[in-house]
Amino acid sequence: MAAADQPKLIVAADAEALAQAAAERVMARIAANPGRIAICLTGGSSPKKLYQLLGSDSWRGRIPWDRVHWFIGDERFVPDSDPLNNMAVARAAFLDRNAPSGHIHPIPTTTESPGRSAEAYARELAAFYGSEKLDPARPLFDLVLMGAGPDGHTASLFPGYPEIEEATRWVVGVPRANVAPFVPRVSLTLPTLASCREMLFEIAGHDKQPILTRLFNGETLPALRARSNGETVWLVDEAALPEGIRGPR
Ligand code: 6PG
Repeated sequence: MAAADQPKLIVAADAEALAQAAAERVMARIAANPGRIAICLTGGSSPKKLYQLLGSDSWRGRIPWDRVHWFIGDERFVPDSDPLNNMAVARAAFLDRNAPSGHIHPIPTTTESPGRSAEAYARELAAFYGSEKLDPARPLFDLVLMGAGPDGHTASLFPGYPEIEEATRWVVGVPRANVAPFVPRVSLTLPTLASCREMLFEIAGHDKQPILTRLFNGETLPALRARSNGETVWLVDEAALPEGIRGPR
């Protein structure tokens, strides 16, 4: 994991330290861009501590809310009133109290199908970006947050599913999930997620050790295939680290 094109591994002592380190990286990406900033959030349990931190009194004052736009990398196809809704979790944790409402960009889930939602979100992303073609020299996002599921999925790109191979569309509907919750999903595709200055994985807890071991062994699962065109960082806590591996801190 040391070569330039490999993810950079950063080890944190525990889930608290990991959230702190993630928050520092969010701030660094914000500080690096004096203009309009785009951050793509993720779902699942891993980012919850980070979201709480960003909404806390000690951090929220450091964020230039009027310059930051918040997107989401994947969504469960459930109403935003459902606790499974990824953006609703982020909104409740920190966005609604701080971000201008026009800067929060949820994936719509009130359309007739995940495919329609994907089309609508692709249009929204392209309108924000100002083009329907991604230019490698001009990333869509400053930062993309990611997680890794027990089967090696990331966003809602599951191993062996056709959506992981999508090379053209920005966003896809995923009719069937490979792991719980078994609700249809909508997901940004690998090329869209790659269009960022930094892709930051948060991987914490002993439950993650088996999948992290497989990823370290180079299994070409979605979480390993997801790479930024810029920097890819795996922020991992001690408990998730495969046996015998000690990473740089
Ligand atoms: C989702 C996520 C998903 C998540 C991983 C890890 O909608 O479920 O976006 O890709 O990041 O499944 O989830 P945990 O953080 O809960 O382990």
